[in-house]
Amino acid sequence: MINVLVVGGGAREHVLAAACAASPRAGRVLVAPGNPGAAEVATCFPVPTGDTAGLMRLCREEEVDLVVVGPEEPLAAGLSDLLREKGYLVFGPGRAASAVEASKAWAKAFMARHGIPTAGYRAFSCVREACRYVSSHPLPLVVKADGLAAGKGVVVARDQATALAAVERLMVEEALGRAGRTVLIEEYLEGEELSVLAITDGETIVMAPAAQDHKRAGDGDVGPNTGGMGAYSPVPQCPQAWTHDIRLRIIEPAVAGLAAEGLPYRGVLYAGLMVTKTGAKVLEFNARFGDPEAQVVLPRYSGDVLELLWETASGRLHRLRPAWSPLSMVCVVMASGGYPGSYRRGLPITGVEAAAATGARVYHAGTAHGDGGLVTAGGRVLSVVGHGPELADAVSQAYRGVEKISFAGAHYRRDIAGRALAYPGG
Ligand code: AMP
Ligand code: GLY
Repeated sequence: MINVLVVGGGAREHVLAAACAASPRAGRVLVAPGNPGAAEVATCFPVPTGDTAGLMRLCREEEVDLVVVGPEEPLAAGLSDLLREKGYLVFGPGRAASAVEASKAWAKAFMARHGIPTAGYRAFSCVREACRYVSSHPLPLVVKADGLAAGKGVVVARDQATALAAVERLMVEEALGRAGRTVLIEEYLEGEELSVLAITDGETIVMAPAAQDHKRAGDGDVGPNTGGMGAYSPVPQCPQAWTHDIRLRIIEPAVAGLAAEGLPYRGVLYAGLMVTKTGAKVLEFNARFGDPEAQVVLPRYSGDVLELLWETASGRLHRLRPAWSPLSMVCVVMASGGYPGSYRRGLPITGVEAAAATGARVYHAGTAHGDGGLVTAGGRVLSVVGHGPELADAVSQAYRGVEKISFAGAHYRRDIAGRALAYPGG
């Protein structure tokens, strides 16, 4: 029996904990800090993801065998390295390899070293030079903070004023602190955006089926970038041939490149891609499961998710014969009014049980127990997931669930999977 600790408190960690708890090999399933939803399938401990000493103590006291690190911050802080030093099995790369996500400038240079296709770019740490470059560069262009920014460090600028304002916000106002001290200015890519999650122990690669995220806050892909407002899988616009090409030209060189540079990698390598007319190019790498991608990809794994995580962490992924279900899954994120900007907390949430009664699965993110019941406690509040034989079935089930839930100011996109439904054969 495996005692597993899932680190994190979002919907991704709720779905990870639920998948682990469903395993016949599961001993105790713990989540730190978790949330009220995760507490229904696992035992939550109020240890924040940044409290490394607290997490180490928890592992010792609770006799944890396997630690699954959900979010990027503890990975970038080196939690996996410390745990491995103490002999724990860990799903999630160490600090050095987490630079694929934690520094976009590092990731770009890594891609250049290994011939991995990505958007053209330049990195700047001087405001004047960045502004001069913006003024001389054709539009649109993309301004990105180098460091971690929870999906909020990227501005796609169609005019110079927007691009200059983004540079100013990051570099002068330091709106994202250190993350924005170095700024990347990137070529704008057009095409179909895809999230491809590759699970790897540093040698063997298990490609998960592609998913599509919806990064912008508003319907029709307008408004600011967010952590992700919804996702679906499979992606009918992405034929099998693309997946093969993505594996050969992007995932395999990346995994081999990390190994060649002495950066052991056991976890998920998430490639955020734009499939352009000239092939797939990397927009970003992440060192962890996507949120909300995990909510639509993990439940499609036909085997035992805990076994998948365990064998990855043990470096024995070659022993598995992974398979994925043809089921369609659609996730709609319900967010607080104002997200990704400022929003209120502590607002009562109703209808979660009624939503679950429709067959939709409800994963918690920014929720908490208030005096009279469940209340909001974050930007992204709930992930409502529908499933079915076709995407259209999954979409209907997800929205039937969403309609049962209410809290003041709730906002969600009404067009999740819309691109797929409009696609011939989707
Ligand atoms: P990133 O965090 O780098 O993945 O960027 C967040 C989102 O901004 C992406 O998911 C895309 O929707 C968009 N984006 C980022 N880079 C580009 C680019 N070079 N061209 C077009 N859109 C981009
Ligand atoms: N959904 C995008 C991310 O997890 O970064």
